[in-house]
Amino acid sequence: MIRESAYPCEPWRIREAALDLDLLAQSESVLALSNGHIGLRANLDEGEPHGLPGSYLNSFYELRPLPYAEAGYGYPEQGQTIVNVTNGKLIRLLVDDEPFDVRYGEVRSHERVLDLREGTLDRRVEWVSPAGQAVRVRSTRLVSFTQRAVAAICYEVEPLGDETRVVIQSGLVANEELPVTKKDPRVAAVLEEPLEPEQHLANGAGGLLIHRTRTSGLRMAAAMTHVVEGPERTVVSTEAFPDWARTTIACVLKPGERLRVVKLLAYGFSSRRSLPALRDQVGAALASARLTGWDDLCRGQREYLDAFWDAADVRVDGDPEVQQAVRFGLFHVLQAGARNEMRPIPAKGLTGPGYDGHVFWDTEMFVLPVLIYTQPQAAAQVLRWRHATLDLARDRARTLGLRGAAFPWRTIRGHETSGYWPAGTAAFHIGADIADATLRYIRATRDEAFEREVGVELLVETARLWRSLGHHDRHGAFHIDGVTGPDEYSAVAHDNIYTNLMAQRNLLGAAEAVARHPDVAAALEVDEEESASWRDAATTMSVPYDDELGVHQQSEGFTRFQEWDFDATDPEQYPLLLTHPYFDLYRRQVCKQADLVLAMHWRGDAFTPEQKARNFHYYEARTVRDSSLSSCTQSVMAAETGHLELAHDYLGEAAMTDLHDSHSNTSDGVHLASLAGSWLSLVAGFGGMRDHDGVLSFAPRLPSRIARLDFSLLWHGLRLRVSVRPDEVTYYLREGDHDDGSQLELLHHGAPIIVRTSAPVTVGIPPSRQPDPEPQQPAGRAPVRRGAASPGLT
Ligand code: BGC
Repeated sequence: MIRESAYPCEPWRIREAALDLDLLAQSESVLALSNGHIGLRANLDEGEPHGLPGSYLNSFYELRPLPYAEAGYGYPEQGQTIVNVTNGKLIRLLVDDEPFDVRYGEVRSHERVLDLREGTLDRRVEWVSPAGQAVRVRSTRLVSFTQRAVAAICYEVEPLGDETRVVIQSGLVANEELPVTKKDPRVAAVLEEPLEPEQHLANGAGGLLIHRTRTSGLRMAAAMTHVVEGPERTVVSTEAFPDWARTTIACVLKPGERLRVVKLLAYGFSSRRSLPALRDQVGAALASARLTGWDDLCRGQREYLDAFWDAADVRVDGDPEVQQAVRFGLFHVLQAGARNEMRPIPAKGLTGPGYDGHVFWDTEMFVLPVLIYTQPQAAAQVLRWRHATLDLARDRARTLGLRGAAFPWRTIRGHETSGYWPAGTAAFHIGADIADATLRYIRATRDEAFEREVGVELLVETARLWRSLGHHDRHGAFHIDGVTGPDEYSAVAHDNIYTNLMAQRNLLGAAEAVARHPDVAAALEVDEEESASWRDAATTMSVPYDDELGVHQQSEGFTRFQEWDFDATDPEQYPLLLTHPYFDLYRRQVCKQADLVLAMHWRGDAFTPEQKARNFHYYEARTVRDSSLSSCTQSVMAAETGHLELAHDYLGEAAMTDLHDSHSNTSDGVHLASLAGSWLSLVAGFGGMRDHDGVLSFAPRLPSRIARLDFSLLWHGLRLRVSVRPDEVTYYLREGDHDDGSQLELLHHGAPIIVRTSAPVTVGIPPSRQPDPEPQQPAGRAPVRRGAASPGLT
């Protein structure tokens, strides 16, 4: 578990002030670098000790069999697992006769800093070798935002005592040995030696390794070169073997002298390109990085991030921990999406192998809502990737006897790879989530080319699925039976309210899209009758309600189920999925994560304020938050229902998920949905931002400890900044890339206002209605207090 003091509270940095070997695996995830294409865990330069070595390329995976004790029709036969690719981070150091290894000798100081504005991981160490020779080592690592295939490390050594002989061995290593996996479904399967060598080359200051996976048939190349600055007699040589290449740099350093090595790395992979083509590709990437040089790579990184923060930064006065955490979250969201270019965003980004590197609905419902308003082109790329997998989703629908497209619950390449139906394919809501992100993107950006090329088809094929999966009963009501909603402690239920309401939006969105683009619709063979059938299904959609209790039902019959005995459940029994059989969870009123409450966020237009308040109260008492995809949503709905301090507590929980390792598995990678969720808690929670049907609205209201909240959004190419204080809000508009008149109409607490670039608008915050009694959580599951009632906080 990460102690609260592991990373001191600083607004723009995540600083590990001392090295704690027990926390190596966690910090490797927290301090990981990525540009959405390459991901490097924060393994120490010298490779050992490590928690979990990890270098990843987005969508570079290997296939593995999915064995079943009892097979059944339609079960996916192959799994996909992210591969730990050739490690290019490795830089070993020999000081006189001793390898630099923090487990030996004396570590006088050790500091690592993830700099959220520079986009680098900096390390400063002072180490005394067992023989008594003291050295200072500094390394700065980056994964370039501006050159997608490139990572670089600047490594410097200087003696602090006498003259010293130093040798640097900088390597590329394939097929590293990985620790054995735990028996936890959230952990990845370990693939042994997944890479078959194809070619290795060494030349003076660098080398290259080319490998191929055995079954998925992907070929990858990793290449390195070095720019060395040292004393006159510095000797450089490189050797290469099938699984490793090593550049050795040796010199004698007098006091005051320094050896500086810039290691440039290039990665590439392909399922189609020939070996020579791939070899040339990484060679060219290295040449271009060399031409740019270290200083300009760093400058490019800074400029890229300056532009990002200009559009995306959030300012939170009054809670410095949340301030730091929300920037940390945004940084990881950006890292996961920045250069993904028609690739998915996995649940862990490229920070670890958790969940086998799979992408889930986390992307469309948690990560994309942030990217759409801060880095919209990255969001478009992910949806274009979904579109590129449509044929696979159509095949899957056909296998299941359905029409349209059944997108996979979990995948890397686009095939369904979930072997457990109830928390896999049955979670059909993934289709509506993709449709929702598609509609949200189109409405926020007005990207018509995207709508025509990608959007309409995604909406049509997902709508077709709902129409064939659901049915009208004899009274005409439309039902979607036998599906699993977001709450994975309920499965294969009827009329899951989240699924039904999201499907409703999907069906209507598709009908509107085909009306707007009849030519695209005709090419997809949509006729009047079909789109009318979508509207019918949408308008007659069942929404289960318990009249006696006066609350909605998460799914038909849910409120009749037996209650879970929370008082008899020990704190160590959470997460319940690791200590109880699923059948027992499925037949009781216990929610792993927000489900109906999530529906009230994204389909808030389908509930009255009174319904929201009553439902929130009811489901709070039954939600245990065994998934990290819950606290942010509970924060948003706590804020909307007037429980601002509770909302603040949940915000803290979402924001600190990885900085405090609160689910005890940050070692396998960061929880991207929850990190994105801290932005959602602030913007949709305290900012009250909603965009139902393309109408932008805000209902800001701050909890007592937050004195000011500023956030920015891109909307129709314009930049809107919202500055919230306890009694009033100011809306500022700035011109964006394609300013179209420089004014924006929005709703403020339900009242229309117009904001112009020429004049910010300041409006008061209306008094809140008397809040209902504070809801209760299951025994022992209340979030840690952060708000006004929090002891010891000022
Ligand atoms: C959650 C899912 C989520 C998955 C990946 C599970 O524990 O219940 O909603 O998609 O983790 O993050």
